[in-house]
Amino acid sequence: MALYSEKVMDHFLHPRNVGVLEDANGVGEVGNAKCGDIMKIYLKVEDGVVADVKFETFGCGSAIASSSMATELIKGKPLSDALTLTNQAVTEALDGLPAHKIHCSVLAEEAIKRAVLDYYKRAGLPYDKEFFRDVEGGHED
Ligand code: FES
Repeated sequence: MALYSEKVMDHFLHPRNVGVLEDANGVGEVGNAKCGDIMKIYLKVEDGVVADVKFETFGCGSAIASSSMATELIKGKPLSDALTLTNQAVTEALDGLPAHKIHCSVLAEEAIKRAVLDYYKRAGLPYDKEFFRDVEGGHED
């Protein structure tokens, strides 16, 4: 069996939603201290829905594929769906990742969570501090 699924290769070679969203109202950036990879997610939230989303990832192929798939999974969806997107869901949608690459999908979950938190803060909306505890501040592993 190939190390990477066809979906991983497809999203790595043809990533969806790459770039900067100039009118984003929520931005989240995370990094993995061990591999040094960085992922940035831009959200445009309108009426509680992820109207648009883009990403910039300086990282490995799995991180790029995970970002691409994650943006596809939350685009056009309620913000609550974006917030509950797990790295397992991203991995499953990619038809799996090798065990030593699972952490790459975790970056996508965390970057989105941080972007949603940024949106709540910018909009002055109340949020559950406990829920965001792991992404608030400079968490980097
Ligand atoms: Fe670090 Fe993939 S090796 S995100």
